[in-house]
Amino acid sequence: MINNPLPRLDVDAAVRERLLPYCRLQPGDVWHDPVQGHRVGCVDAADSSQIAQLMNGATAQLAIHDPPYNLVAFDERPLADYIAWCAAWIATTQQVLAADSALYVWLGADQRHAFQPLPDFMIMMREQAFRPRSFITLRNQRGYGTQQNWMAVRQELLYYVLGNPPFDVQYTAIPKAVRGYYKTVNGERTENSERGRSDTIRPGNVWYDIQQVFYRMDENVSGCYAQKPLAAIERIMQASSQPGDGVIDFFSHSGTTLLACERLQRVGYTCDTDPLFCEITIRRLEHYRQTGRSGWQNTHPFTFELEPDRFELEDEKVCIS
Ligand SMILES: C[S@@+](CC[C@H](N)C(=O)[O-])C[C@H]1O[C@@H](n2cnc3c(N)ncnc32)[C@H](O)[C@@H]1O
Repeated sequence: MINNPLPRLDVDAAVRERLLPYCRLQPGDVWHDPVQGHRVGCVDAADSSQIAQLMNGATAQLAIHDPPYNLVAFDERPLADYIAWCAAWIATTQQVLAADSALYVWLGADQRHAFQPLPDFMIMMREQAFRPRSFITLRNQRGYGTQQNWMAVRQELLYYVLGNPPFDVQYTAIPKAVRGYYKTVNGERTENSERGRSDTIRPGNVWYDIQQVFYRMDENVSGCYAQKPLAAIERIMQASSQPGDGVIDFFSHSGTTLLACERLQRVGYTCDTDPLFCEITIRRLEHYRQTGRSGWQNTHPFTFELEPDRFELEDEKVCIS
């Protein structure tokens, strides 16, 4: 099996320099998908005119945002600056969302730094038009292992709405095992399995049934450092949007939301300020259309450029190993 990972593309200057010439988008550019009408912009989430350019007059029924979390390992700024920046991209989001729409935001709480920025973000959101609906936790299977503290295995996901968007209840693949919870319906005493709409349980607001992305999974995109599981994004999309709806994600990175849009017949509007992640987003969509695969497992999106010897027919990009 080939195991050929890329380094973290945001920090490896040498690899960045080699790959930037292959990026179709430069800052300010927007790519328009000729097949399904998706759009990918190399634009700034907090800049309202750039977001207007990305949307080209379209509105969206759902936003799924996964911004940098303001952690030391990424790009830490003074907390007030970070929250002001969040308020700016919340404003651009509201500018393009429909009157009845849903907003999901992934965000962390740094236990080494007073749990910032999650509570500060929540407080900032109290001043916004969005109404809070749920606080979801996705359980990661692996975490920061330690004998000195509880292992950190959680990812926080906030759910807000504007107006009254639809919500389609979702189910896991976990069979209902517990019996009981009797209730009288129309004079009959019923057990919960008789009343339920599914033989499997609902995920509730603690999702422990979704596998975290790692290199053995088909959906893995090497070089990306913060990829969210496709199953989590698809669960959100199926709960809070309908086929044909517009979905925005202003922090595209590996392009998970765009891929979910393609698979679930939504129209994706996504962006990233880094041309490399914009290129990966477009390539991931194209790769899926060509191969049906959701990622590159343990190879990567730039194999053709970095290891041309592995390819037989240059024009067709047929990999021989
Ligand atoms: C946590 S990652 C998103 C991961 C994504 N959900 C996925 O599954 O791959 C955050 C991304 O936001 C991008 N980013 C940072 N600041 C941005 C800004 N002002 N506007 C747009 N994108 C930005 C970064 O380059 C990075 O790729």
